[in-house]
Amino acid sequence: MANIFITGCNRGLGLEFTRQYLKQNHKVIATCRNIEDVKELRELSKLGDLEVHELDVSKHEMINQLQKKLSGQAIDILINNAGIWRGSHLGSISADDWLDSFLVNAISPIKIIEQFLPNLELGDQKKVVSITSKMGSIEDNTSGGSYIYRSSKSALNSAMQSMRHDLINKNIATLTLHPGWVRTDMGGPGGWINVEESVSGMIEVINQLSIKNSGKYIDYAGKHIPW
Ligand SMILES: NC(=O)c1ccc[n+]([C@@H]2O[C@H](COP(=O)([O-])OP(=O)(O)OC[C@H]3O[C@@H](n4cnc5c(N)ncnc54)[C@H](OP(=O)(O)O)[C@@H]3O)[C@@H](O)[C@H]2O)c1
Repeated sequence: MANIFITGCNRGLGLEFTRQYLKQNHKVIATCRNIEDVKELRELSKLGDLEVHELDVSKHEMINQLQKKLSGQAIDILINNAGIWRGSHLGSISADDWLDSFLVNAISPIKIIEQFLPNLELGDQKKVVSITSKMGSIEDNTSGGSYIYRSSKSALNSAMQSMRHDLINKNIATLTLHPGWVRTDMGGPGGWINVEESVSGMIEVINQLSIKNSGKYIDYAGKHIPW
């Protein structure tokens, strides 16, 4: 049984990660921005060992406080899942939305890994995963637009490469993982796959992660994505 720490667990992919890991008998430390209104998440406690904690990933003091609360507790797999989409096309690019998106999508995942390193070092599996997007691929950008979302995920991808090198001597493996185009609030109804397929695929990719294949940019089906 592994201890799995996940952000953004009240809906979408985070909720499904929690469900599937609990069903596999792992312990899930599920975090979400507002713990008042998370009925669906709390109901998952009937499946197994679930801890729910409040964490707005954009508030770095909250990250520090939660780490102190969980001090001494091993984390085997840390999954940075929380993310935001802010629309942007040429002529209507909001600098405020861009800054918010960088904070949530790129800076906070790195701060979370940084803060929870002592917990990861206590874990047996030693894996950190950041949910990115294929839209962060510079090479794959053949259609333009989405300045804010694309660049925030490209920044995350870049920072995860530094993380890969910095964590190798601690024996911690990193993965930059694209969930596919999924039918969630963010992905919308036109997504190609549902949350069950996306998350079961991502869990399989995470299972294959080791220090030997650390630092890859891969999708839920195990397909490599060009940077
Ligand atoms: N769906 C897709 O097709 C797709 C494709 C590529 C990548 N992704 C990535 O997959 C991840 C999950 O997306 P999703 O489809 O599940 O999106 P979603 O349904 O919109 O859910 C987003 C989750 O992130 C949380 N979140 C946002 N800002 C937060 C903050 N400041 N602090 C804590 N939690 C915060 C949300 O919490 P609240 O309810 O409090 O807002 C929610 O739990 C994201 O990183 C996204 O970029 C999704």
